[in-house]
Amino acid sequence: VDPSLDLIEEIQRLKKEKNAVILAHYYQDAEIQDLADYIGDSLGLSQQAAKTDADVIVFAGVHFMAETAKILSPSKKVLLPDLKAGCSLSDSCPPHLFAKFKEQYPDHLVITYVNCTAELKALSDIVCTSSNAVQIVESLPADQKIIFGPDRNLGDYVKKKTGRDLILWNGACMVHEIFSREKIENLRAEYPGAKFIAHPECEDHILAEADYIGSTSGMLKYTIEDEANTYIVATESGILHQMQKSSPHKTFIPAPPNNACACNDCPHMKLNTLEKLYNCMKYDQPEIILPEDVIVRAQKPIERMLEISA
Ligand code: 13P
Ligand code: SF4
Repeated sequence: VDPSLDLIEEIQRLKKEKNAVILAHYYQDAEIQDLADYIGDSLGLSQQAAKTDADVIVFAGVHFMAETAKILSPSKKVLLPDLKAGCSLSDSCPPHLFAKFKEQYPDHLVITYVNCTAELKALSDIVCTSSNAVQIVESLPADQKIIFGPDRNLGDYVKKKTGRDLILWNGACMVHEIFSREKIENLRAEYPGAKFIAHPECEDHILAEADYIGSTSGMLKYTIEDEANTYIVATESGILHQMQKSSPHKTFIPAPPNNACACNDCPHMKLNTLEKLYNCMKYDQPEIILPEDVIVRAQKPIERMLEISA
């Protein structure tokens, strides 16, 4: 890229020229969030992807999110700035192994967390996100047998909230399993009025400490409406940008990891840069392409989710 180019200006120009919409997840770098037409959690982003009238969806997020957008708007061009922006949680559940797992429970309904491949969604009955997982399980009859995957931490959380006995796939997110309960307790002692808020992808012993548990949008809303001045935040650090923007007078502290080498950044989310965003809009690639049959089969469980959460 020509170093004299003003990338922000160029991206805005390309957006108009191509009738494109930029959808960004809260875990993106601040400069990408500030350029986006819509910033949201996984549910909000999929709702936007389903209803946009743009010709091109530029997804500033990770691969499974862009795939979900393509499944919901198959006639649109969906671009992802870096195809290598994957997800450790999605990787923890290869579809061929999940298909075998599913065979062991033929009378169970399959609910999959949206953080998984399109092939996995195609093997599911209903998709969910962190903001509607509890609601979706509760919408089913009490005696409904359920398999839940790939996130065991979200699955455990849903089990506790609903009192249902779900069969869980043993997957997890690399970013949400790094937090230290001891260090969080020490931080709370240092900031006595602080609230501790956590994403349900965190482990059980971390969630047990939380004043609020929810999706990225849920956590952001909580910090806007709540009266505390300081928040210790157990999720990816990108969300702190919107928290700080929405409540400039409040203090937000990323929850400390148990290992000094670990950090709260998702290496996949952070692969996207302004330069890659510009290049993908200029050259219309990398583009998300999915087999027609996968789109058709994955559409039903996602649409079922959108109907329940409407
Ligand atoms: P939400 O934004 O839906 O809470 O998802 C968090 C996440 O891990 C996305 O990868
Ligand atoms: Fe996947 Fe975790 Fe990164 Fe979200 S934060 S994209 S779940 S690895």
